[in-house]
Amino acid sequence: MRDRACVALAVTGCIGAYKAAEILRLLQQSGIDVRVAMTESAQRFVGPVTFEGLSGHPVVTTMWEPSATGAIRHIELAQSIDLLLVAPATANILAKFANGICDDFVTTLYVSTTVPVLVAPAMNVEMLRHPATRENLSRLVARGVQIVEPGSGYLACGMTGEGRLADPREIADRALAILDRCSARLDLAGHRVLVTAGPTREPIDPVRFVTNRSSGRMGYAVAEAALARGADVTLVSGPVSIDPPGGARIVRVETAAEMAAATLERLEWATIVVKSAAVADYRPVSVAERKIKKAGDAMTIEMEKTEDILASIGRRKGSRVLVGFAAETDDLLANARKKLEAKNADLIVANDVTAEGAGFDGDTNVAYLVGHDGRADELPLMTKRQLADRILDAAVEIAAVRAGR
Ligand code: CTP
Repeated sequence: MRDRACVALAVTGCIGAYKAAEILRLLQQSGIDVRVAMTESAQRFVGPVTFEGLSGHPVVTTMWEPSATGAIRHIELAQSIDLLLVAPATANILAKFANGICDDFVTTLYVSTTVPVLVAPAMNVEMLRHPATRENLSRLVARGVQIVEPGSGYLACGMTGEGRLADPREIADRALAILDRCSARLDLAGHRVLVTAGPTREPIDPVRFVTNRSSGRMGYAVAEAALARGADVTLVSGPVSIDPPGGARIVRVETAAEMAAATLERLEWATIVVKSAAVADYRPVSVAERKIKKAGDAMTIEMEKTEDILASIGRRKGSRVLVGFAAETDDLLANARKKLEAKNADLIVANDVTAEGAGFDGDTNVAYLVGHDGRADELPLMTKRQLADRILDAAVEIAAVRAGR
């Protein structure tokens, strides 16, 4: 059994390859055992001897070198690491990862490992902006690969812009944070958490819509906390301007109907459902195909009810734990209890949106957790991430009681 965390540092071919030596040192200073693998083009920029000397281990440069133990090397390494870090990551390696191509050691290692993968892209600004690269990065993110975004500045190609390898300290810190999370409490391991977040948009015409105020921060914090506690997470998100947590499967939707379809489709999969989205209750009965022109002093839009997703899940939830939200301005607890019953939820996170620190765009919230035993736990002002953990604590407890544990 290993007594310290082990990172495979894959170096690919770009000018920034020399900075991988600094990343290696920073990880070692935090007690991490680092094994280096290099692509053929990386070796044109820096010699493996540098990494061998620094890491104290042989550097893997080819698929074809026999292993000292006779084991299959990429499988052996894939199974003995806690994180695969690719820094710098070229456009080429991202394209290969996105397509599952295994034509050298690094690409084969990526496909063979089940541990978290962190990539730090570095390339020319146009290569980074190219739709092919953007698409490859999105595919990798959707698959759970985490990205240290490149920085802006003077690039080796003479251009100035985005594409510079992130600072080695930032890359090492991200790697260490992932390793910390891996060794943290994993009480949600084996759980599949389905989270909805953000507002929905109900179109009126091609340029207008009806929506709710919601930043998506609460739901995104639940997704992040669930991931950190070992859950498999799917995040169904309305339009928001924040980045999703690395590692979650993201399903982007716009309307309440799309959110209902995306959520109900995944209900079978889930063991815990957290419905933090601010779903529009009504939508225009008909959507104008062309922009509605201004006419008269007033206008009326006929609206019809959208599907109540939480209530639909409540009717078919089986043994799943169902958490809903109630954002209220009046009669907070009475409304929360009504929603708990009416929607057959197991827990309602109730918050008075007019309370200090409970605003839509802020990072904090003040809430009650209202459960079936009639209890309403009043929680103090805390960050949305802390509240997310409290919600998950309650959900885990309900799941354990339900499973007879
Ligand atoms: N919700 C939902 N589908 C809807 C409306 C709400 O799933 N069409 C969910 C929300 O995600 C939230 C909970 O129901 O978890 C409560 O939402 P809220 O808007 O407060 O409740 P409503 O039932 O719409 O009641 P009201 O707007 O009258 O307070």
